[in-house]
Amino acid sequence: MGMEASTEGAPDLTPQTVTKLASADDPRALSRSLREQPVHKVGDMFHLVTRRSDVEDALRRTAVFSWGAVGMNLGNIRPLIPLQVDPPKHVKYRRILDPLFAPKKMALLEEEVVALVKELVDAFAPKGSCDFHEEFAVPLPCRVFLRLMGLPLEDLDLFLALKDDIIRPPGVTLEEQAPYREKAGRAVYSYFERVLAERKAHPTDDMLAQIMQGEVDGERLTDEEVLDICFLFIIAGLDTVTDSLDCIFAYLAQNPEHRRQLVADEAVIPSAVEELLRWESPVPAVPRATTEDIEIGGCPIKAGQQVMLLLASANTDDADHPGVDEVDLERNPNPHLAFGGGVHRCLGSHLARVELRVAVREFHRHIPEYELAPGTVLEYTTGLRSLHHLPLAFPSAG
Ligand code: HEM
Repeated sequence: MGMEASTEGAPDLTPQTVTKLASADDPRALSRSLREQPVHKVGDMFHLVTRRSDVEDALRRTAVFSWGAVGMNLGNIRPLIPLQVDPPKHVKYRRILDPLFAPKKMALLEEEVVALVKELVDAFAPKGSCDFHEEFAVPLPCRVFLRLMGLPLEDLDLFLALKDDIIRPPGVTLEEQAPYREKAGRAVYSYFERVLAERKAHPTDDMLAQIMQGEVDGERLTDEEVLDICFLFIIAGLDTVTDSLDCIFAYLAQNPEHRRQLVADEAVIPSAVEELLRWESPVPAVPRATTEDIEIGGCPIKAGQQVMLLLASANTDDADHPGVDEVDLERNPNPHLAFGGGVHRCLGSHLARVELRVAVREFHRHIPEYELAPGTVLEYTTGLRSLHHLPLAFPSAG
């Protein structure tokens, strides 16, 4: 007989527990206590899946754990492509998009990212202090994205405002937040409608142009499909890199021995980035909805229920992966789930890696020694793990 999904063993369990995996000072401790049960049922509809083997299994079984059935509205009026589309259609979209984000293509961006990073660092290096979040982690991914898509730099503030109103709208409940998301959603659609019209009149050769030329079953993507891809890129590609930068630099500011390790040997940076993505898990959970009655770890879950797969908890589950309860910047191999897994595994992971590796390398070349500004109490955000502010102090370069 299957056991009941339980809330025992987890402190203070509410539907918001999953958001605490992002905002906790130590999400690893919360994850550890959550893993005492494979599944926690929260309210009538909501289940948290805590253990690595079950999370991996669910990520793979897309017919049973569907994204399309989640019904999450982020201000979009059609499913976001490819995230909210289930296989087999999903595969067709990824066939178009994967080559555009392939490692070799992304490596070509390195020099441009180096230039952007230097520009940002040069602006605050002489001051001896910065708010890393405001002055670095927020603008960098947005500027890279604008360059990639061939969009004007003047639109930076507009993009930042739109993605904030979608990801972190004012209000607490979904009802309170919905009008902000809908308004921002309408603005995203009309922005890209205008851009697509311009591109048809004056073709370019950037990534947006390549997406517009994409074909599924011998037919061009429709304008609506292109819009639905662009909408997702704004949600998926800007905030996540900001969050990861905040997490990584907050960690290095507080762990000087690790920071000095990668300053002394830059060859450590790629594995250090992977390890800190695993440790911090900036995207702590991903949603799915069940399409049939199932059991996880002996716990029955009915069809049509919402399931949160806790990537953060899976990433520090030492049941089959001993040693993952500590940070090892040279961990290799490091099969973490910070980019998800299965068919929806992050499309932009190679772009994110270029941004994060270059940011870590170039920042430390200019500013190898820094710490949290005196008196700083870090406040992590809920939902996605990021910081409201990250004040750093360092010897002035001026
Ligand atoms: C370090 C930064 C990033 C992290 C931690 C991250 C994390 C993730 C995760 C966990 C998923 C899986 C979602 C799920 O299974 O429900 C995902 C999917 C996705 N990510 Fe990222 N992401 C990052 C950067 C990016 C960037 C730069 C882009 C650029 C466009 C991007 C585009 C996407 C897209 C389009 C998907 C959906 C893929 C699909 O459904 O097939 N991500 N990401």
